[in-house]
Amino acid sequence: MKITVIGAGNVGATCANVCAQNELANEIYLVDIKEGVAEGKALDMWESSPIGLYDSRIIGVTNDYEKTKDSDVIVITSGIPRKPGMSRDDLIATNAKIVKTVTENSIKYSPNAKIIVVANPLDVMTYTAYLTAKIDSSRVFGMAGILDTARFRSFIASELNCSPKDIQSVLMGGHGDTMVPLTRYTTVSGIPVEELIESNRLNEIVERTKKGGGEIVNLMGTSAWYAPGAAAAQMVESIVKNQNRIFPCCCWLTGQYGMKDIYLGVPCKLGSNGIEEILELKLNDQEMEMLNSSAEAVRGVLSVLDDMNLF
Ligand code: NAI
Ligand code: 2OP
Repeated sequence: MKITVIGAGNVGATCANVCAQNELANEIYLVDIKEGVAEGKALDMWESSPIGLYDSRIIGVTNDYEKTKDSDVIVITSGIPRKPGMSRDDLIATNAKIVKTVTENSIKYSPNAKIIVVANPLDVMTYTAYLTAKIDSSRVFGMAGILDTARFRSFIASELNCSPKDIQSVLMGGHGDTMVPLTRYTTVSGIPVEELIESNRLNEIVERTKKGGGEIVNLMGTSAWYAPGAAAAQMVESIVKNQNRIFPCCCWLTGQYGMKDIYLGVPCKLGSNGIEEILELKLNDQEMEMLNSSAEAVRGVLSVLDDMNLF
């Protein structure tokens, strides 16, 4: 197995590190445009292998895509992160060009790879990679839902003073403030969360989740990386081990939930072929309404991409 992580910044380096520590591949390539950065971080990770007891080789390269040849999975984290006061959508002008370039460069050498997009604005950057790679949509998808549900789950664990391991949830929609955490599909060891947390408090937790990315940007001046890097690595693991895990991922819709021609977060099964299946839940009217407004928000950003005339 061979994994390539493009962008050796905060999220990319964290993702590569988690992949290495969990021995998800024999070779993990870290690529960046900044001379020496990927090489340095990869060397640092390799030097920690005798301590962490793993033997995945981590190799850093500056813009040398030939070395990434025949990767099974490519994770695209290259792109600028947001600063306080910016929304994810403000990043599109810079990141669309970066995502297009790195997708072209990497798919050329790894035509059979599965591509996981992380750069923001996530749903539209995933579409950008799809348009560029010209491969089946089952092999191009984005990471956001695992992160967003992880935030929701961690907040519920804090509220109930219980282990986050016991909390399961589903979250749908775009990776923005219109995302749709589904309390009806959230359980604590099988117990519906709505039986354990009263509705006003649960709504506060939902609202905190929707703005979870911004909460961290306001604290640190840049966006999160530990949870995002680990979330992307969890997707890599489900693919390389063909685990068929069910996660919310940003997928290309072809009629599911009454929508098509859009990348949006939905529950799916992730295995060695990429998106093996999209699961269609029986949403109630209110949930469907929230999902539709989230899709509308994503379509608004898509129109900005259209205006850029990159394709
Ligand atoms: P960062 O600034 O720490 O790292 C980005 C890296 O990309 C830098 O090292 C930069 O040199 C590199 N880069 C830029 N252009 C490149 C190119 N053409 N080729 C190769 N490398 C290139 O940023 P961070 O925090 O790692 O975030 C990366 C992206 O991920 C941002 O767009 C951020 O908004 C997004 N993000 C998405 C999340 C999600 O849930 N989908 C969560 C967290 C971050
Ligand atoms: C996050 O949610 C900014 O998308 C990034 O942390």
